[in-house]
Amino acid sequence: MSAYTEPMLKEGSLKGKTIIVTGGGTGLGRSMTKYFLELGANVTIASRKLDVIQATAEELRKETGGNILGLACDVRKYDEVEAMIAKTKEEFGYVDVLVNNAAGNFISPTERLSHKGFDVVVDIVLKGSYNCTLALGKMWIADKKPGNVLSIVTTYAWTGSGYVVPSAVAKAGVLMMTRSLAAEWGRKGIRLNAIAPGPFPTQGAWQRLFPQDLANEIDPLKRIPLGRFGEHQELANLAAYLVSDYSAYVNGEVVTIDGGEWIHGAGEFTNLGAVPDDMWDAIEKMTRGK
Ligand code: HXC
Ligand code: NAP
Repeated sequence: MSAYTEPMLKEGSLKGKTIIVTGGGTGLGRSMTKYFLELGANVTIASRKLDVIQATAEELRKETGGNILGLACDVRKYDEVEAMIAKTKEEFGYVDVLVNNAAGNFISPTERLSHKGFDVVVDIVLKGSYNCTLALGKMWIADKKPGNVLSIVTTYAWTGSGYVVPSAVAKAGVLMMTRSLAAEWGRKGIRLNAIAPGPFPTQGAWQRLFPQDLANEIDPLKRIPLGRFGEHQELANLAAYLVSDYSAYVNGEVVTIDGGEWIHGAGEFTNLGAVPDDMWDAIEKMTRGK
């Protein structure tokens, strides 16, 4: 077992904190939630599919013995977000941390999208994230309490990417919200940070972004210098640090965890890694002394 597949923080690091994880019923949201529970937090997970959310809540309660509440909430609807926060306060007393994790995404040439196809992704990612952030920010400021928001974005939030344009537009917006509010709300004791993961295998992402026939043609592993996908525990470790008080002076930051993928794609000459050693002898002859 490698260190990055092991839990990192001290036992009890999140004791006394109540955390809302949107989209916490599946994938990375589920993995972060599990670790937050293991570290002693109370967690509400919320998404559209109540059956999925309740099944995950039940499983994680059994696995960790932690306090978890599963609620139906469409983050695009402000009244549902307010109701979800109210129910969390009823159950756990308060809300200390928000993790904006819910997302929608699929690959498509942009000209093939209907306006509704564009809306659905932007609304889940951008509107959903600002709805939750605004509702909790107002509460923390009115109550004069500290707050902490962690948003899960992607590396193409700043590079951009074809074929996922609604997602890129929306994630860029979430990143700008993170930086803007870190500056505006920092003096009120509210900090905001983001994580930009590269590919971490989840059913939700793989079905929509790397369908098997395409993955057979274009191997996503080839883009990653470290030669592997992310492990859920290493992302959960980073998320737990950022929602804990150990990161109290970190505000307005986006932490990339992608095995070097985006920088590999950005570098002018990085694809020279495909040149075999014997060809370098010939190239050296052509370039040396010139
Ligand atoms: C073109 C599509 C489409 C597709 C949907 N639409 N899928 N258009 N290609 N593959 C269009 C529909 O035709 C419709 O427009 C509109 O989008 C809404 O579609 P619905 O199916 O009615 O929406 P809904 O049931 O609400 O589903 C939302 C969804 C779905 C976003 C389309 O994929 C979803 O529920 N996703 C949630 C989970 C998810 O996406 N997880 C992956 C996150 S991974 P019309 O005009 O026909 O009505 C991620 C990682 C990024 O973000 C980085 C990786 C490295
Ligand atoms: P996932 O399992 O599909 O998670 C997305 C979650 O969002 C689902 O649980 C879904 O639940 C929820 N959701 C969608 N629309 C919602 C809405 N309107 N209201 C509330 N919840 C909603 O995919 P994942 O891979 O774990 O992705 C998690 C996060 O990581 C996303 O922000 C994604 O962009 C980011 N990310 C993932 C990767 C990766 O490689 N996996 C890479 C970079 C970034 P319901 O369907 O029940 O609503």
